[in-house]
Amino acid sequence: VNLFESIDHIGIAVEDLDASIRLYEDRFGMPLQHRETVPAQGVEAVLLGVGESHVELLLPLSGDSPVGKFISKRGPGLHHTAYKCDDVEQALALCKERGLAVIDEQPRRGIRDSRVAFLHPSGTGGVLTELVQPAAH
Ligand code: CO
Repeated sequence: VNLFESIDHIGIAVEDLDASIRLYEDRFGMPLQHRETVPAQGVEAVLLGVGESHVELLLPLSGDSPVGKFISKRGPGLHHTAYKCDDVEQALALCKERGLAVIDEQPRRGIRDSRVAFLHPSGTGGVLTELVQPAAH
């Protein structure tokens, strides 16, 4: 069974949010759709639209947040891939059943009132993987 409907977004760790917004919005022409500080994840995040999908820019709020640590180790750049699911609970349960290592045992609130859960990169070839169920509108 295919767990995912589509790629919801790719997450990019940035050191300079304004410069990154200028790149994606002004030079690539992607509309800025949402901006939100997500204290639980230690980031200020921006969503830009590309087709049905998004680019999610992530600025760490501190150096010892997960994204802050990622940048100090690996520098800014691609951080995670996020897949859209109908039912994040079910998708997460199936991932566990299939032996994938999870970071989140239960889905939690993500940006824009989505529900999200992360899989550990140790089980996914080094790619931090996010399952996303967008908020119903
Ligand atoms: Co994300």
